Amino acid sequence: MATQMQTEQVANAYGRWAPVYDLVFGPVFRQGRRAAIDVAEKIGGRILEVGVGTGISLPGYDKANRITGVDISEPMLEKARQRVRALHLDHIEQIAVMDAENMDFPDNSFDVVVAQYVITSVPNPEKALDEFARVVRPGGEIVITTRVGAGKGLRGQIEKTLMPVTSRLGFRTEFAFSRYTDWAATVPGIRLVEHRALPPLGHFSLVRFEKAVAANDSTRERALTPANEVVQ
Ligand SMILES: C[S@@+](CC[C@H](N)C(=O)[O-])C[C@H]1O[C@@H](n2cnc3c(N)ncnc32)[C@H](O)[C@@H]1O
Repeated sequence: MATQMQTEQVANAYGRWAPVYDLVFGPVFRQGRRAAIDVAEKIGGRILEVGVGTGISLPGYDKANRITGVDISEPMLEKARQRVRALHLDHIEQIAVMDAENMDFPDNSFDVVVAQYVITSVPNPEKALDEFARVVRPGGEIVITTRVGAGKGLRGQIEKTLMPVTSRLGFRTEFAFSRYTDWAATVPGIRLVEHRALPPLGHFSLVRFEKAVAANDSTRERALTPANEVVQ
């Protein structure tokens, strides 16, 4: 039977990770974070980072961009706020507790939505992807770094077996790439534009989706809606 994850359980798990998160997960994801920021900044502007956690990626963004960070875990975000203050990251517009599956932003609010190592932590990933597609503007992109599971074979079986353990730690081991392509096929205007393995070992991937500009919508060159308020 498939292991179900619950949002509250995930939030509690990351509350426990918060004090040691940067030490444990800082180096292992570093190259992926850099790659995600590099592609996000090719579009630039108003960038939403979902599952921003301790804000470990925030100093990597060029100050010409305006960044909003949301996460389900308050203890993780407290670390992010401390980082914003300590490093004077004045391009960070908002840091707020929010569920990726139900975000409090109007449609088309951001030029880019970035989700780094988050999709496999969210209980209903397709619901979160729907939200990313809703809040990104036409012509904007969704940039994801993630672990892609094997789906089948021995590795897939091991990933399934580990699920009851890893879900308690806040992430899932099983997540086949077909879930991204199946999802994109159901959302009008969303197109997969890149899927590549990330260094050092290729266990993680960078996945990009583009939201199409409607033929009669030439005005959507930049995200139109400013973030609600500055919370730091
Ligand atoms: C593996 S950590 C990644 C943190 C950071 N993006 C990084 O690169 O290190 C996953 C993050 O996703 C957050 N998260 C999990 N479920 C979430 C949800 N439903 N909504 C928002 N954030 C969520 C967790 O609290 C955690 O901070």
